[in-house]
Amino acid sequence: MAGITSVGYRNFMVPFGVSACVTEMVSDMGLIYENDETKEYLNFSNNAVPTGVQLFGHDPTNLAKSTQIALKLNNNIAFFDVNMGCPVPKVTKTGAGSTLMNNPILCGDIIREIKKVTNLPITAKIRLGWDDKSVNFLEVINELEKAGIDAIAIHARTRSELYSGSPHYDLLKDLRKRMHVPLIVSGNIFSLEDAIEAISVTGAEAVMVARGGMGNPFLITQIDHYFKTGEKLPDPTMAEQVKWCLELGQSLINFFGESRAMRIYRSIAPKFFSGFSGAKTIKTRLATELIDFDSLKAILQSIEF
Ligand SMILES: Cc1cc2nc3c(=O)[nH]c(=O)nc-3n(C[C@H](O)[C@H](O)[C@H](O)COP(=O)(O)O)c2cc1C
Repeated sequence: MAGITSVGYRNFMVPFGVSACVTEMVSDMGLIYENDETKEYLNFSNNAVPTGVQLFGHDPTNLAKSTQIALKLNNNIAFFDVNMGCPVPKVTKTGAGSTLMNNPILCGDIIREIKKVTNLPITAKIRLGWDDKSVNFLEVINELEKAGIDAIAIHARTRSELYSGSPHYDLLKDLRKRMHVPLIVSGNIFSLEDAIEAISVTGAEAVMVARGGMGNPFLITQIDHYFKTGEKLPDPTMAEQVKWCLELGQSLINFFGESRAMRIYRSIAPKFFSGFSGAKTIKTRLATELIDFDSLKAILQSIEF
């Protein structure tokens, strides 16, 4: 998730049972123009799990060129993912993100061109289509598979739906049976039950945890543990949430420094206390008063169990 899943966030999440990580989306032109902020996304070291770089762009040649640049900047990249689902106008008006869904042939050409410059696995993140009148994910999947894609992640909403409303898993019924590469499904994975349902409907190999993991890292453990053992683990306690909220704060500080990390953390830390009764004041304070690690500790210490 752009603006959220920095290396500090990913390092914190991995021990909870993550199978693979992807960077925030990285602009192909940002890499080509050697933009410092863009290059920062490539600054990660070898992790306990494979980490992919997600690129966005629309021109096959530039995407391939930026792949080569990324490989020079970091030799810990496990795979490349191409963003074909971002709905944000700043991205779609350039022809990138979910605009690519309108041109399945181009989607295939992009993968072909990137595969010319690397032997690493290439994946793509797509949506159902641009809007409810142009639901064309099967066509896009077909073109991606013809081009040699290694796995596909699909967010079960159209571009027009952005991030709201229920995802349409019904449209993805038995999708995996119609495909030749591993499938990862995304959309409203907020609980273990959501993950079980999404996997059972679609036959996917994996779910992608996005907003549901913010402030609830143990969701990853619950999902991972269930699919390995069949056992459902109980939800975390308030004491565990406090501990993890501090740990993620520290992990962000390790990467961004204290002041920038805590500014970012104001939108993430309150989520650790969603659904806990009496947490309204804590959430408001975390959203407004975080300036350094001491203020984080002070707010969390004021919680009465
Ligand atoms: C703040 C935010 C940033 C996101 N950034 C990206 C991104 O950079 N690349 C991407 O493929 N998806 C991105 N997504 C989409 C998520 O990966 C996911 O597909 C989507 O949120 C649906 O899952 P959810 O309903 O469980 O959150 C983003 C979502 C959010 C909320």
